[in-house]
Amino acid sequence: MVGGGQLARMTQPAAVALGVRLKVLAAGPDESAAQVVHDPVIADEKALADLRAFAAGCDVLTFDHEHVPPAHLEALEADGVLVRPGSAALLHAQDKGVMRSRLTSLGIPCPRWTVVSGPDEVASFAASLGGDVVLKTTRGGYDGKGVWLVTSSTPAEVVAEPFRAGVPVLAEERVDYARELSAVVARSPHGQAVAYPVVESVQRDGICVEVVAPAPGLSSDLAVEAQRLALTIASALDVVGVLAVELFETVDGRLLVNELAMRPHNSGHWSIDGAVTSQFENHLRAVLNLPLGSPVARAPYTVMVNLLGGDLPDVYPAYRHVMARDPELKVHWYGKGVRPGRKVGHVTAYGSDLADLRSRAWHAADYIRGDIDE
Ligand SMILES: Nc1ncnc2c1ncn2[C@@H]1O[C@H](COP(=O)(O)OP(=O)(O)O)[C@@H](O)[C@H]1O
Ligand SMILES: [Mg+2]
Repeated sequence: MVGGGQLARMTQPAAVALGVRLKVLAAGPDESAAQVVHDPVIADEKALADLRAFAAGCDVLTFDHEHVPPAHLEALEADGVLVRPGSAALLHAQDKGVMRSRLTSLGIPCPRWTVVSGPDEVASFAASLGGDVVLKTTRGGYDGKGVWLVTSSTPAEVVAEPFRAGVPVLAEERVDYARELSAVVARSPHGQAVAYPVVESVQRDGICVEVVAPAPGLSSDLAVEAQRLALTIASALDVVGVLAVELFETVDGRLLVNELAMRPHNSGHWSIDGAVTSQFENHLRAVLNLPLGSPVARAPYTVMVNLLGGDLPDVYPAYRHVMARDPELKVHWYGKGVRPGRKVGHVTAYGSDLADLRSRAWHAADYIRGDIDE
């Protein structure tokens, strides 16, 4: 797995259980996953020579993020390396412009969109919509970095910001959504696929903070439609591994695709404790062309809340407190230094009383961040 973040870290226990040796290419020995795998390879994921040397010791190459340059992936494939998902599929998770145009040609419902080359084109797109616009750098964004909301009162210098990076900018209608959903599926090279229950995900400042599985009150028609969209995209793009489809449920009850990720996704972390087979295990099974495991939930509801760093200089007392207060809460810690707003772990609670699960999971997150002290 290329990338030493928390996704690679959480793949390791699944690899252990499957009897698979997980090798990780990380940028440094202190990275989240480098701490937990045997003999991490410390190298530059943007250097083709480093990727080639790493791939030589692997049966199959997969990723914990989207940041490996597409040309390097193509070069590795030309060398005969098994890259999963393949470069042609992965491009749709790396470039939001490519993703929009492909999904549109497949007839998949998306927000109205266009690629813009400067503030003038943003203004004319906004005029044609008669509403607010969301600008996104087509490449390199994550956790809301690379996303700007433009309203009629947005200052000109903010509208100009996305164009500074020198990559094409995607403009979309600002969707009036009731909530955000995510449909996670896993697909293997021979086309076997499984779909996880559709979840609700809550973002604050562009960062996922909470996931509820399954999405409360989602009609079975929309749930099936979301899974069908994700399975259709996985098959049309020939995705191998986990595919997460981020969706908007509009106020008038339609689904629109926001974006794609082709790796284990934050909206699937609940599956470690809440599903028969975690997304991490199914990602490994898929990229290794093994039979997939059941994605079925173990409890009526599972709530996952991300632990974001706050202003507490030492979180260890808080860490002990959340475990002592609620022994049924599952605590996952990523081994990362604490900085305000940084994802440092997550907790899950599962059972049947949704309000109780939510309040217990949020208590832990608020306590770790230092927002409450009892
Ligand atoms: N067209 C849109 N309309 C309304 N909100 C949006 C739109 N696009 C993105 N957002 C909000 O911004 C968040 C981050 O955007 P996204 O494209 O998923 O970027 P990232 O790659 O940072 O996750 C979304 O989860 C959603 O909350
Ligand atoms: Mg997103």
